[in-house]
Amino acid sequence: SAASPRVDEVKRLAGKGKCPMHTQKAKAHASTWWPNKLNLGPLSGEKPASDTSIYAKDFLTLDLEEVKKDITALMTDSQEWWPADYGHYGPFFVRMTWHAAGTYRTFDGRGGGGRGNLRFSPLNSWPDNGNLDKARRLLWPVKQKYGKNLSWADLMILTGNVAIESMGLKTFGFGGGRADIWEPEEDIYWGQERAWLAAERGGLGDELDNPLGAVQMGLIYVNPQGPGGNPDILAAAKDIRTTFGRMAMNDEETVALIAGGHTFGKAHGAGNPGNVGPEPEGAGIVEQGFGWTSTYKSGKGGDAITSGLEGAWTAEPTKWDNGYFHNLFAYEWEQTKSPAGATQWIPKGGIDADKVPDAHDPEKRHAPIMFTTDLALKEDPIYGPISKNFFENPDVFAEAFSKAWYKLTHRDMGPPKRFLGSLVPEVQIWQDPVPKFQGTLIGDAEIKTLKESIIGTGIPPAHFMKAAWASAATFRGTDHRGGTNGARVTLAPQNTWECNDPEELKTVLDALGKLKEGFPGDISTADLIVLAGCAGVEAAAAAGGVTVSVPFSPGRGDATVELTDADSFAVLESFADGFRNYIGSKAMIPGMSPEAFLVDKARMLNLTKSEMAALVGGMRVTGCNAGGSTLGVFTDKPGTLSNDFFVTLMDMSVKWETVIAEETKESYEAKDRKTGEVKWKASRFDLIFGSNSELRALSEYYAQAGGNDSLVKDFVAAWAKVMELGKGEGW
Ligand code: HEM
Repeated sequence: SAASPRVDEVKRLAGKGKCPMHTQKAKAHASTWWPNKLNLGPLSGEKPASDTSIYAKDFLTLDLEEVKKDITALMTDSQEWWPADYGHYGPFFVRMTWHAAGTYRTFDGRGGGGRGNLRFSPLNSWPDNGNLDKARRLLWPVKQKYGKNLSWADLMILTGNVAIESMGLKTFGFGGGRADIWEPEEDIYWGQERAWLAAERGGLGDELDNPLGAVQMGLIYVNPQGPGGNPDILAAAKDIRTTFGRMAMNDEETVALIAGGHTFGKAHGAGNPGNVGPEPEGAGIVEQGFGWTSTYKSGKGGDAITSGLEGAWTAEPTKWDNGYFHNLFAYEWEQTKSPAGATQWIPKGGIDADKVPDAHDPEKRHAPIMFTTDLALKEDPIYGPISKNFFENPDVFAEAFSKAWYKLTHRDMGPPKRFLGSLVPEVQIWQDPVPKFQGTLIGDAEIKTLKESIIGTGIPPAHFMKAAWASAATFRGTDHRGGTNGARVTLAPQNTWECNDPEELKTVLDALGKLKEGFPGDISTADLIVLAGCAGVEAAAAAGGVTVSVPFSPGRGDATVELTDADSFAVLESFADGFRNYIGSKAMIPGMSPEAFLVDKARMLNLTKSEMAALVGGMRVTGCNAGGSTLGVFTDKPGTLSNDFFVTLMDMSVKWETVIAEETKESYEAKDRKTGEVKWKASRFDLIFGSNSELRALSEYYAQAGGNDSLVKDFVAAWAKVMELGKGEGW
């Protein structure tokens, strides 16, 4: 057919109305994976507080040096129920920390080690997280001792640092403040596959479906044996580049992390993986949260089976050294099979088959090993020279690893202000720093004068609202990036994004720039943009005869080009923003409907259902659609804040029909039931408020008698909330 792929996709979605990113499917998902799992849904809400501000106070009472001492002691205190390889748990803990942090993905800011989610399904049961249940259990005495002052999330990250230091490398730093969650995060889409290690997520490399950060279900990143288990070194390199890129790592950082990580420890594949029992979430009640219990010989120590690969990369696996690169370059490598049947590599021709000590038996020696993915660091034309440089300059390697490790373990924490404790190092560019506001904060009188000057420019109030929304709507409740602080909407790339109507935005920003120049007091551009939005909302309410005052508080700072990693902001672009009735050409995630994007955006902005409804309804009629679209503008008096959107949507004198136009993002028309005349046009973002039963209930609430007052009041409150998101979370 001649229809564009986008139209086909929309048709497909219209038929299915499916949304993998959100609760219902996610719940079905969990019950498909583990049908016997006890459903605690009916008890939701009854859990210890996971309030960041409460936890921050508790955390700051800790003596981190004492905590580190306790964790260090635990490193070499081997337990009979899960003996330490080489008498040192360090490498095992480094892997735990890496897997806790490594699920972070730039695309939606989800994943990462910021909430202690490794304790819950599905992560606690992913094949890639095999036996990490034991790592957490080994840490329980420390967790128990420090109680509420040390979250699991912080403990799991700090432990990796202590492990690395106890093996000889100083780390770059540690920031605490990660409040634990108490149930799985059901809004994270981990992929559509129904079987472990299945891969139905696009092709290799660049074609991997967004927002996913791993190539197969249940993996953190890539398959160690090569794509789909095929030992193709260069194809493995391509997968590594895509998946580590999705974690915000460049080529150097990627090489440093993999090589640095595999400088430590060993892989476990002593025997047939058929001996390994079910993962924690599917295991029997007497297992008490453990999984992967193995009947192969002793099932632990030298008999352990985790990944099915077997062996160590270096001759001294509990020491930071240059052994990994030394071996990578010293040998030619040939394929072999581990005792568990996995494909791995050993030095060609049986060279140095006794170079590596056994982890438990002093009588035994082994050849060093590499995975297919390790060899990618030598064979890939970009990774190769980086590895060579690190090999020849161990100090450069050490610094690159410790910085990349710090980024890996802290990338999801947001701006510098959220990094707590005595071990926090200097601010990094990936923290999106914003200088503190300097000057005297303006008061009520100046706010009033400024609002008058703003409206006095003659620019339509809705354009000020749109600029303020463009500034605020980058915020992500997941990794705390974006938001009004810093006024990055004035900088590239935000000021060029299609969703922000760049030309109109420029007019607004130029006008505000002039006002700022002529203003005798102190105000940041970031504050002025927000204030202009408030003035716009008040003018739109006044047009309907309602006097409101939108709460505003100053204190935002302004970022600079130097403090902005422009590339890293690309992922904050709204390629679909239902609040602005905007759907761009990049808004295609398989199986994700436009309305699912709206819900996702609302979730990023920490909004409730009714706040989402009030904002959509109010923004439509005041004229906040992107690109001047008339879809969903259900009113005879555009520019006026009213409940008209909901009144029209509940009106039974029209009937809605689907229209698929050329180059469309699908639209809908309301026809008069008697005359057939087209009265209104709408998008899926609009019609979902009449079709979904929970949203329809809210639409009725705003459309009923008294609904106009409710709408104006709720709109103002929700608007003010969005403008405050991330405010002052800078330096
Ligand atoms: C072990 C894969 C990157 C740290 C392992 C194991 C596999 C693996 C299969 C063996 C697990 C077992 O059987 O016990 C990969 C792949 C990577 C990658 C495919 C990316 C291409 C990293 C990174 C780090 C890391 C970035 C840390 C910075 C470790 C450590 C161990 C390990 C310390 C040893 C654990 C122990 O001794 O118990 N890795 N890894 N890996 N990995 Fe990685």
